[in-house]
Amino acid sequence: METASTAKEDLKDTLGRAMKDLRISVTDRCNFRCSYCMPLDKYEWIDRSEILSFEEITRLSRIFVRLGVEEIRITGGEPLLRHDLEALVSQLARLEGVKDLSLTTNASLLSEKAAALAAAGLNRVNASLDTIRSEKFRLITRRDDLANVLEGLSAARRHGMNPIKINSVIQRGINDDDILELVEFSRQHGFWIRFIEYMDVGNSNNWISDKMVSKIEILETIHARYPLKEIGRADGSAPAVNYQFLDGIGNIGVIASVTEPFCAGCTRARLTADGRLVMCLFADQSLDLKRLLRSGADDEAILSFIRSAWIARTDRYSEERLEAMNSGDYQPRQRRKIEMISLGG
Ligand code: GTP
Ligand code: 5AD
Ligand code: SF4
Ligand code: SF4
Repeated sequence: METASTAKEDLKDTLGRAMKDLRISVTDRCNFRCSYCMPLDKYEWIDRSEILSFEEITRLSRIFVRLGVEEIRITGGEPLLRHDLEALVSQLARLEGVKDLSLTTNASLLSEKAAALAAAGLNRVNASLDTIRSEKFRLITRRDDLANVLEGLSAARRHGMNPIKINSVIQRGINDDDILELVEFSRQHGFWIRFIEYMDVGNSNNWISDKMVSKIEILETIHARYPLKEIGRADGSAPAVNYQFLDGIGNIGVIASVTEPFCAGCTRARLTADGRLVMCLFADQSLDLKRLLRSGADDEAILSFIRSAWIARTDRYSEERLEAMNSGDYQPRQRRKIEMISLGG
């Protein structure tokens, strides 16, 4: 383990929120084309020369840790498309002060990668899976990879990853009739299941509120068959509210960013694959850390740049969206947003 050179700062933004989590996108490429995330066939991919190297990511992460970050999430696009990702995992796993290192993936390449990732120090993964029916899987992801995803989940378990969480985005008329099947699948196999309200991320997923299935509806469907009791959010600030099945089998959560926004406890900073700092999933602006890195700035200069940005942070998009929805004047396309594929959730 490395020794951190300085004690962590007690950084707070304008709403009193600390910086505790860093979500690192390692690529904006994805082998899937989920309609709710990446519906475009034409997208301006980040040029390879702009993508941060693992050394650059690790250097920035070390700085973020000094500013308070305790948990690091690797994401994409699809992070497993990044060649030799286990080398990055191994560098990040060695950073002192990082209590949790995790990966969010579509799991299609996980069966090939699980052994190396686990050996490098990754102990848990969250995998997207919105249905266990192959036809529908193809409809949602526009790829025919269900069997690979299921293999990937098994491989993750075989290599000791724990917990393994399934993320299911529920869209009305698409997979709202798959909820119980997903619950049963996850209970049977010992995976956690988290249902996610469909969000208006990016500029092109044609979100309309009618397509979003609310947390209340999701819970009603499950509770009628498998009675539940609320547990609450991990650390009080995680996106998911967790529930317990009264029969004691399985783990379940709901991420209700639309109907019950959790901006008040949002401690998440995001780093894009091309080294931009983004302070909200729905942001339209970013700060170019790569330019600083590559112009020879020292760690102190980069740290003070990030510190100033966080101190000035005001983001509370999902709360604003709910306020606007409640007053009847919410227009999802009113504001340009960074695409989900370059933020990875
Ligand atoms: P855990 O640490 O395992 O609880 O993961 P997580 O839920 O924080 O992250 P994951 O990558 O599994 O994302 C699950 C869902 O939560 C995705 O739809 C993300 O877009 C969403 N999500 C994560 N963080 C935020 C956030 O800060 N704001 C909003 N609105 N959604 C978020
Ligand atoms: N709404 C909710 N969740 C989404 N994700 C991607 N797009 C959306 C959306 N529009 C989820 C994926 C994945 C995580 C990174 O973000 O399902 O689990
Ligand atoms: Fe689907 Fe995730 Fe790829 Fe987006 S990044 S297209 S949600 S698999
Ligand atoms: Fe954080 Fe923005 Fe999500 Fe609110 S909408 S929880 S501020 S990332």
